[in-house]
Amino acid sequence: MKMKNGRIAIITAAMLGTVFSATAFAAADDAAAKKYMKKHDCFKCHAEDKTKKGPSYKKIADKYKDKADADAKMYEHMTSSKKVKLEDGTEEEHKALDKSEDKDIKNIITWIRER
Ligand code: HEC
Repeated sequence: MKMKNGRIAIITAAMLGTVFSATAFAAADDAAAKKYMKKHDCFKCHAEDKTKKGPSYKKIADKYKDKADADAKMYEHMTSSKKVKLEDGTEEEHKALDKSEDKDIKNIITWIRER
């Protein structure tokens, strides 16, 4: 029974993934995403596919792969100055983006998930 439910969840997630990628989410605007992240120093701690002070965007994308609440979780993370632990062991508050820049934030979420 347990297995069966797990299977159904995976199949449902896969189906939703197909529906969403085909309709709801347009591809990220690559240039705009990079420009916005440069402006906000995101690349100081995150690189596309290597670990800096924070995890690579690829690693973050992998973590959220097939998670239904990925967008909401990432949005929350990027706008709420959570305490995070850097690779060197020190802690600081994560950079919080301004919710009025919603469009840019959603674009970088899509961009990160495309890695
Ligand atoms: C001072 C370094 C630093 C800067 C600057 C920074 N981050 Fe992070 N970020 C981190 C660390 C460290 C983590 C890992 C947190 C964890 O896993 O607990 C992280 C995690 C994340 C995550 C994953 C959250 C999760 O739930 O796993 C996202 C998305 C993210 N950062 C986006 C951004 C964006 C976008 C910017 C620019 C606005 C940015 N970060 C700027 C250090 C930084």
